[in-house]
Amino acid sequence: MKADETSTAWLDQVYCEDALAGLSRIPDGAVDLILTDPPYNLGKDYGNASDQQTVEEFLQWTERWIDAALPKLKDNGSLYIFTTWRFSPEIFVMLKKRMTMMNEIIWDRRVPSMGGSVRSFSSVHDTVGFFVRRKDYYFDLDAVRIPYDAATKKARSRSIFIGAKWLEVGYNPKDLWSVSRLHREHAERVDHPTQKPLEIIERMIKASCPPGGVVLDLFMGSGTTAVAARRTGRRFVGFELNGEYCRITAERLAALDGAPAPSPEPATAPRAKPRARAKAAAPDTTTINSLE
Ligand SMILES: C[S@@+](CC[C@H](N)C(=O)[O-])C[C@H]1O[C@@H](n2cnc3c(N)ncnc32)[C@H](O)[C@@H]1O
Repeated sequence: MKADETSTAWLDQVYCEDALAGLSRIPDGAVDLILTDPPYNLGKDYGNASDQQTVEEFLQWTERWIDAALPKLKDNGSLYIFTTWRFSPEIFVMLKKRMTMMNEIIWDRRVPSMGGSVRSFSSVHDTVGFFVRRKDYYFDLDAVRIPYDAATKKARSRSIFIGAKWLEVGYNPKDLWSVSRLHREHAERVDHPTQKPLEIIERMIKASCPPGGVVLDLFMGSGTTAVAARRTGRRFVGFELNGEYCRITAERLAALDGAPAPSPEPATAPRAKPRARAKAAAPDTTTINSLE
């Protein structure tokens, strides 16, 4: 199915269903960016068994969804995938056979020191792969540059720096992103065990999806990618197995519009065990400056 052969009913939807079953709703070549945060297979409880597979099952399943998702991407599109050190080597090799790897981004979750492991070093980062298809992939660095503060600009006031574009427009965010994980009291936090900060997801979208373009997240969780897409003026589509997370997503999106939450579309999955209600979405507090 080609992009121009269908209706656009699938746009701005989070379908409460298995991603592998739902991908056929999306025309091939219709998506600018696949930004996804699949189960890590570390035994987490998402109200389903997706994070508790054998290693062999997990890697086979990962390869299946990658092969089902990639045809949805435009030729100049990109893919970001969250992984952990446990499976990033295998998953990156899979993707490197199909795409070109541009970056390994380390998300330093700024976890405070609280004891932890005694037989190895505590793991405090996610490993994110950034992949593209072709040399002319979309990438807007200026949209995500980090402004220098006044003191730094002043310190660079010698004549050799005058007129330096990078000093005015800010610097490249580099590949080590130190952004605090969302602790329980954080205004953005809802009831999902691995919710990602909007700050990170919005940076990826602004850099790698043109305004008005489409972002696909196969594993929406609490809907962070959908919320980030809407806040940055992009369209979205995605899937989530857990009915309660679909409800949280609908509530977060409705809070952006100032409207009551509609039912998730279509609510085919069984509701997970009851969880606390989501907090209202935070106001626009994106603070890219605070990254360093
Ligand atoms: C790592 S979490 C995503 C968290 C998300 N990025 C957020 O900020 O809330 C992965 C999610 O994938 C969902 N999931 C697992 N298998 C799935 C499948 N086959 N189809 C759709 N969703 C699935 C899980 O229920 C879980 O919520």
